[in-house]
Amino acid sequence: MTTQTTPETTDPTVERTLVLVKPDGMRRGLAGEVLRRIEAKGYTLVAVELVHATPELLAQHYAEHVGKDFYQPLVDFMMSGPILAVAVEGQRVVEGFRSLAGATDGTLAAPGTIRGDLARSWGSKVMQNIVHGSDAPESGARELALWFPAL
Ligand code: CMP
Repeated sequence: MTTQTTPETTDPTVERTLVLVKPDGMRRGLAGEVLRRIEAKGYTLVAVELVHATPELLAQHYAEHVGKDFYQPLVDFMMSGPILAVAVEGQRVVEGFRSLAGATDGTLAAPGTIRGDLARSWGSKVMQNIVHGSDAPESGARELALWFPAL
């Protein structure tokens, strides 16, 4: 599902980021809570899609992690259920969403953040941290092209 927005092309601080509600977040019924926090912050949902990720998509998405010891468990986890892919737009939304998400390790993530409030990652479950957010505007553009080729 996509919505038409009027891009604020004159404002260079308007960016887009890819947010994924990972299979653990979907299993726990937290998609609505994640979307609520994004909207409450004032960002715009540009596109939303329920996706069953393929190994090929994940190899491109996680290209920087291919070969790391946690790569295959990460792929297995990301294929363990549906993912909600969301394209989000707003001023400085890349760093803003990462701030909303909190630190990668849910045990250490600050209270008030999505992971700090909702995730308890430990040991090999550190990858089960509810959400993904692009780490830079360039990554956002690259990742959105993978998950939303028609956008
Ligand atoms: P994400 O933001 O999707 O980007 C890479 C993902 O790899 C990260 O969230 C975690 O889910 C996972 N990850 C990062 N570091 C580790 C690690 N040391 N062990 C296991 N999984 C990790």
